Amino acid sequence: MEIDRYERWFMTATFLMICGAIAALVISVVGHQASLATPAGRVVPSEIDSTPPFDDPGLHQTGPGEYELVLVAQTWSWTPNEVHVPAGSTVTILATSRDVIHGIRIRDTNANVMVIPGQISEVKDVSFDEPGTYWLFCHEYCGIGHQGMSARIIVDE
Ligand code: CUA
Repeated sequence: MEIDRYERWFMTATFLMICGAIAALVISVVGHQASLATPAGRVVPSEIDSTPPFDDPGLHQTGPGEYELVLVAQTWSWTPNEVHVPAGSTVTILATSRDVIHGIRIRDTNANVMVIPGQISEVKDVSFDEPGTYWLFCHEYCGIGHQGMSARIIVDE
């Protein structure tokens, strides 16, 4: 069978790109322990207000310098939308959504997770060492008010 020279180049380039993609996947999974986020639990969206811990959203101390931040997302706000955390704290975030997919991204931290209705999203051991205001943004497009869907974590001295 006669294959055109350019077509052969494209086939070779395509094959090499597929090999590169597979190699990148293997390296990230084996070498860097990359994994898909698994939900920390499930919650029925219509029963959020009566299901622990979401029946009591906010910041709760769990140990010396350790806190749990329970967040509920809904278009287009967070409950609570402002919390105060002492500097040097380590915070585990538990979040869920009442309606559509939202997301959590907290500037200057490693917190970056989708918030999906029916699921509990967990971010462990977020460090708040420096005093200041840490903005929490929704990073999944969730409708016309998406760009204003933010909350503040105020780290006190
Ligand atoms: Cu919520 Cu975008």
